[in-house]
Amino acid sequence: MPKIDSEILHTKLDYRKSHPSVTPIFQASGFEADSSDFYARKSTPNTTELEDILKKMENSKYALAVSTGMSAIFMCLNLLRPGDKVLICSKIYGCTYKLFTMYCQQHGIKLDILDLTNKNSYQEILKNKYDMCFFETPTNPFLYSIDILKVSNICKLNNKDCLIIVDNTWATPICQKPLDFEADIVVYSGTKYFSGHSDVMAGFLTTNKTELYEKLLELRFYGGFILVPFHAWLIRRSLQTFNIRIKQQHETTLKLIDKLKKCDFIRKIYYPTIDGKQLTNYGGIIFVEVDDQIVNNYSKILEKIKLFGTGTGMACVTSMIAQPYTGSHASLSEKEKSKMGITPNLIRLCFGLEDPEDLYEDLLNAFKN
Ligand SMILES: Cc1ncc(COP(=O)(O)O)c(C=O)c1O
Repeated sequence: MPKIDSEILHTKLDYRKSHPSVTPIFQASGFEADSSDFYARKSTPNTTELEDILKKMENSKYALAVSTGMSAIFMCLNLLRPGDKVLICSKIYGCTYKLFTMYCQQHGIKLDILDLTNKNSYQEILKNKYDMCFFETPTNPFLYSIDILKVSNICKLNNKDCLIIVDNTWATPICQKPLDFEADIVVYSGTKYFSGHSDVMAGFLTTNKTELYEKLLELRFYGGFILVPFHAWLIRRSLQTFNIRIKQQHETTLKLIDKLKKCDFIRKIYYPTIDGKQLTNYGGIIFVEVDDQIVNNYSKILEKIKLFGTGTGMACVTSMIAQPYTGSHASLSEKEKSKMGITPNLIRLCFGLEDPEDLYEDLLNAFKN
């Protein structure tokens, strides 16, 4: 008979007979020798389940779950080699802009930044031979659309192997499927709509190309980018309400836009074009340009507002208010912000699941007084 020390170490339930009604959290760093998971840095049942759902949502052949949206983007950068040439859109999330500029400078990669929301830039693309083109659509900020198929076709004219990478965070796979429009890789910050509850960070990559998937899978394993089982489990749970949250947030957004249009302190509302082809629907994030008086009183407004969270986060069940100038794009210099058109007057509003009337009253109350 083994001694108690050995018993304590080796007593293990055969959980396979339990048939749990939901997949439990596999809080294990390693698996038995006959397991396909092998080691939790390679894959876990929780990441595999999540990836299976994402593949179904996006009709993609492959999906990979990673620790954050930025690690998904970092993994894409790792596909580049010194001497390569990259194009990014000038309207882009602040940290993505920073990461691309830093990485390309450090690794001898030529980086071009063009406004891909403007068709005039297509001529400029044609003058170059890019190895990668990375953009968001709708863009953060301003929610402008970029024609994925068009940009892909133009980039591939001079280099058929040019990688087209779309950050689909703000559209989500429910409203837009970039792989159907000749994107090679799609990346997501799962911290936003996928989570929807501001309680977990995650990132995703999808592709239909076996060679790319294998490279990214290897990179995830050696680089240690994989999403931990608990976070995968939380996101998997959030996915059960993904569709319904988007629908509700979309409805609330339309109602709020209708009301905000009539407010004299709002100069402009930014909302994406739902063309029914590339972008088939949209969730709950908009930008508004407010007048100077609001900007001067912004800290007082944040003190007054009750139903909108003021921290870093968005696309969740509770509403949020943020100023890109001091928030998502704060790491950019004055010159870079001005080039992107980001002024202190630009405010991001994310609508959650609160009653739309309450949200409007709360905004009015905070902005008006
Ligand atoms: C469009 C976009 N992509 C990527 C990211 C980065 O994602 P994460 O914060 O999960 O690293 C963000 C974060 O706000 C984002 O807005």
